[in-house]
Amino acid sequence: MGEHAFSDSEYLSRQSEFLEQLPEDSLVLMPTNQVAYRSNDTNFPFRANSYMLYLCGWSDPGAVLMAHHDGTEWITTLFVQPRDTKAEIWEGRRVGVEGAVSGWPINQARSLDDLAEIVNSQLNSCRSVYCLTGLNSELDELVGGASQLEISDPTPILDDMRVLKSEGEIRIMQESADIASASHIAAMRASFPGIGEWQVQSVIEAQFTANKSRWSYPSIVGGGDNATILHYNSNDNEISDGELVLVDAGCEVSGYASDITRTWPVNGKFSDQQREIYELVLKAQLAGIEACQAGSVWLSMHRATSAVLAQGLIDLGILDCSVEEAIGDDMEFNGPYRNFFMHGTGHFLGLDVHDVGGGRQGDKDEGRILQPGMVLTVEPGLYFGSWRTDVEIPDRYAGIGVRIEDNVLITADGPVVLTSSCPKTIDEIEELVGNIG
Ligand code: GLY
Ligand code: MN
Ligand code: MN
Repeated sequence: MGEHAFSDSEYLSRQSEFLEQLPEDSLVLMPTNQVAYRSNDTNFPFRANSYMLYLCGWSDPGAVLMAHHDGTEWITTLFVQPRDTKAEIWEGRRVGVEGAVSGWPINQARSLDDLAEIVNSQLNSCRSVYCLTGLNSELDELVGGASQLEISDPTPILDDMRVLKSEGEIRIMQESADIASASHIAAMRASFPGIGEWQVQSVIEAQFTANKSRWSYPSIVGGGDNATILHYNSNDNEISDGELVLVDAGCEVSGYASDITRTWPVNGKFSDQQREIYELVLKAQLAGIEACQAGSVWLSMHRATSAVLAQGLIDLGILDCSVEEAIGDDMEFNGPYRNFFMHGTGHFLGLDVHDVGGGRQGDKDEGRILQPGMVLTVEPGLYFGSWRTDVEIPDRYAGIGVRIEDNVLITADGPVVLTSSCPKTIDEIEELVGNIG
């Protein structure tokens, strides 16, 4: 049973902003997620669908939010699991129909048992349907059966809204960022040569839990060469003296994600080679943050980080060409620097860790214009996996992977780093690692 993250009036104004963009003869159907099976008699911990959280804050499984226009105004109806003592003994307490209508920002509530009957009757009196498909098979069948109706995707309208965060959302995202920052600091302090990646993970995630939060994506803890595998998360190797560890871990508060990466030497002292790569990535990251200016196109930050990284790879003797050749096409970024920096510079952040609204729509698009209220990540990296066979890895840097990732709010006065309490300079990190205080 969820708590409300926002006032009723905030949810209601989101609902009307969305619904007022739709034709009045349409029906809106927004299901949340179902509980997902994990293994015999055991399910994955439930996480509500982000659109459901956004529109009404309902965080229990299986619900469907419906909206129809009655000729005068839009009416919202939430279909929920009805009270059922026998089921609740096993699965937990339910809010039920009465609890939903009295406690949530909706006009009416109904039992999910009545979904087919009520939705069918609404389908008979509307012209088009805006439905989130693929989450609720019963609903998909009902809508699929109404072949005379035009089915539209409601998400582009909602995504445009979700891209701009309200003051309330920013407060929650700051809280999420603060918990994740403290978690990385605790993990730096706890590190020593020979520590297991899983032990670093446990320090991070203990902080999440202690703050009534949980991870927003599986924590990545990669020591040595494992830092060069972008989505590494088996976290089952020991980290040897002299290796770097890359930790990409964030939590969620009321559904809102933080997403921080820090990289540190497990023994508390950067080697010369590690320092060279770390300083370069940090310089690129600071340039990326500086590029996060209201009015700039999305691609500006990737251009900024790419220019610094390409120049640095040339200065370190890793690439032997001009900066332009290293980067390649100014839209496609297909030059040889991509061998060592193979992902984007960032993504929107919000209810989804890779939040909706998409920075760029394909290789020909410079992306959205940055506006105050947008929150995104800035996360350049360089990766020199000694295991790589596709490209020659310089011996000096083999086994080094570095990424530095912060969460940045766009404001009219420039970028605000929500994760600024998480240290990232070499001096700060060397001071912290192994310092259990
Ligand atoms: N943690 C996933 C990412 O940084 O995008
Ligand atoms: Mn990220
Ligand atoms: Mn990340």
